Amino acid sequence: MEQIKMVAVASHSPENVVSNDELSKLMDTNDEWIYTRTGIHQRHVVTTENTSDLATSVAKKLLDKTGISPETLDFIIVSTMSPDSLSPSTAAIVQSNVGATNAFAFDLSAACSGFVYGMSVASSLLTTRYRRGLVIGAEVLSKLVDWHDRTTAVLFGDGAAGVLVERTQENVGLLAEELRTFGEKGDNLVAGRFANDNPFSKQISELDPYFHQNGREVYNFATREVPEALQSALEQAKISPDDVDYYLLHQANSRIVASIAKRFKQPMSKFPINMVLNGNTSAASIGILLNDLVESGQVHAGQTIALAGFGGGLTVGAQVWQL
Ligand code: ACO
Repeated sequence: MEQIKMVAVASHSPENVVSNDELSKLMDTNDEWIYTRTGIHQRHVVTTENTSDLATSVAKKLLDKTGISPETLDFIIVSTMSPDSLSPSTAAIVQSNVGATNAFAFDLSAACSGFVYGMSVASSLLTTRYRRGLVIGAEVLSKLVDWHDRTTAVLFGDGAAGVLVERTQENVGLLAEELRTFGEKGDNLVAGRFANDNPFSKQISELDPYFHQNGREVYNFATREVPEALQSALEQAKISPDDVDYYLLHQANSRIVASIAKRFKQPMSKFPINMVLNGNTSAASIGILLNDLVESGQVHAGQTIALAGFGGGLTVGAQVWQL
């Protein structure tokens, strides 16, 4: 049966690092508050790059690592909630930058579930018609952050990561998934609202680029819905929580990750975290974590891993992969 294989993974984080201590010079906050509540000590923040630059760097690394020629790519998906522009899509800019002349390219908007949703779409594309593509999560969330709002500014970071995926006959791939969206809860996490303003409009909504969230509600949502989705994916894959080598969860908050590990009665060593260095990078976070774990040799072929994203929408997505 046709399946999908992750052939290579890569990430790119902007050079500029902003510590909690530096943030405390900009707003009334401190390292102790941020770290104990979120598990974050620092984040990367761009100084010159936009989202397409981060995503292009990832795409180039994936092509370099595999020696694959860009003309052989069939598609490029960029999951992002912070694109350079609505048109052209960030994926189209990446397609041009790397010379993937035969690839179709589009952005996918599912906030912090973007990487998982992107992998789901890629799996469908590869098991039906196409042979090879890129799935990249890329974010410059710093342009959506109100740098005077301590309740959100301390949480987010910039970064990108992605995988080169191929159709394969090997005994690997996406074993099961559960994707869910709760549109009725969408107002709990918003960013990037356009002004709805034209010469004829009666009700004008104002431009508001910034993040606003009900942190408690998002926290409760994540600790309730991620275990549900993960449990469903594990049951569909007919495996137990013990059979999973690593759980790669969206890196929003270390307390959310710890709570989910406890629910599944699994050791924290199976739930790696790296938000301490990167903050919450939304659609990029799972890919950045995957790259770290592959580079350190912890994650490798032959293992079973679970991925779970959650966030704006509100959305949640869990997958079980055989590597
Ligand atoms: N520094 C210092 N004090 C702060 C800060 C800060 N950065 N931010 C808020 N405070 C204060 C508040 O003003 C409040 O003070 P008060 O009691 O005098 O009113 C106090 O700290 C407690 O604030 P809460 O918002 O109740 O803090 P809480 O314990 O809920 O933690 C947090 C907030 C960390 C945001 C938590 O709710 C959380 O992690 N939620 C999940 C949010 C999340 O991860 N969102 C992103 C996921 S979705 C996505 O990735 C796009």
